[in-house]
Amino acid sequence: MATPPKLSTNFPGRLEGKVAVVTGGASGIGESTARLFVSHGAKVVIGDVQDELGDALCSDIGSDVISFVHCDVTKDDDVRNLVDTAVSNYGKLDIMFANAGIPGDVPNTLVEVNNERFKRVMDVNVYGAYLGAKHAARVMIPEKRGSIVFTASMSSVMGGIDVPHAYAASKHAVLGLTKNLCVELGQYGIRVNCVSPFVIASPMLTKVFGLEASQVEELVCRSANLKGAVLKAEDVAQAAVFLSSDESRYVSGLNLIIDGGYTTTNAAFPMVVHGAAP
Ligand SMILES: NC(=O)c1ccc[n+]([C@@H]2O[C@H](COP(=O)([O-])OP(=O)(O)OC[C@H]3O[C@@H](n4cnc5c(N)ncnc54)[C@H](O)[C@@H]3O)[C@@H](O)[C@H]2O)c1
Repeated sequence: MATPPKLSTNFPGRLEGKVAVVTGGASGIGESTARLFVSHGAKVVIGDVQDELGDALCSDIGSDVISFVHCDVTKDDDVRNLVDTAVSNYGKLDIMFANAGIPGDVPNTLVEVNNERFKRVMDVNVYGAYLGAKHAARVMIPEKRGSIVFTASMSSVMGGIDVPHAYAASKHAVLGLTKNLCVELGQYGIRVNCVSPFVIASPMLTKVFGLEASQVEELVCRSANLKGAVLKAEDVAQAAVFLSSDESRYVSGLNLIIDGGYTTTNAAFPMVVHGAAP
């Protein structure tokens, strides 16, 4: 597999002077985004339940520009404290990247689904996103500005791609939240968007598959529509920077799908025609 080209993340300043909260910021997409936000001049507070990873990330980047707060996104008090910490540390909040999420259980046959696990996925992925937006809006509304970005998924727009039912339902719900909130919060100058990645070999996914990252990427590349590139967490971080920066100042209600065109097509017919039924 070809080594991906180094992304040009080093033209600085696209988030200069901005303050961001990143939930699920200790790992995967959240970690990459926190790093990229800082490299673009933002001050960042990450909230996560993985305290050791969060603390290690802050030591690595530098505690003058990034801090960690223990935060379970399903707990109102935790999310309130996360947002209030950003305001008390850095004076304001410009960006909420509500990214924390869990995949839910595989296998995925409806009659086997564990009810409590189903509810937990909805709690983290939907209720957690809602709480992130709610507490961000609480401090953004008086300032009449802000950008809220959710991490949805390509599962926000299509079914049947071998993800747990709860996950598909939760990501459709995140898209619904994006659309509804962008209408209410538009009057305050607050933009609301989401990013919807294809498959990335993050810790979440390697755990689900029980495979090494390189093995997951191999599977992903074989099924991808766009060849010659491998989707990385940093690609999602780049989209989050765009949606959080003033470059996207008139973009709201967008589901920015980062899937190399995967969701625009359906491979079943060509596969049958060419003799390789799915
Ligand atoms: N990896 C993919 O292929 C993929 C594709 C599309 C969307 N996503 C979405 O991207 C987001 C990030 O996932 P990732 O792939 O980086 O996985 P990840 O497991 O590397 O990161 C998720 C982070 O969320 C944190 N988290 C989980 N539950 C939490 C809670 N209750 N409170 C606070 N933090 C919590 C985890 O500790 C972890 O640090 C998720 O919303 C996921 O659904 C991932």
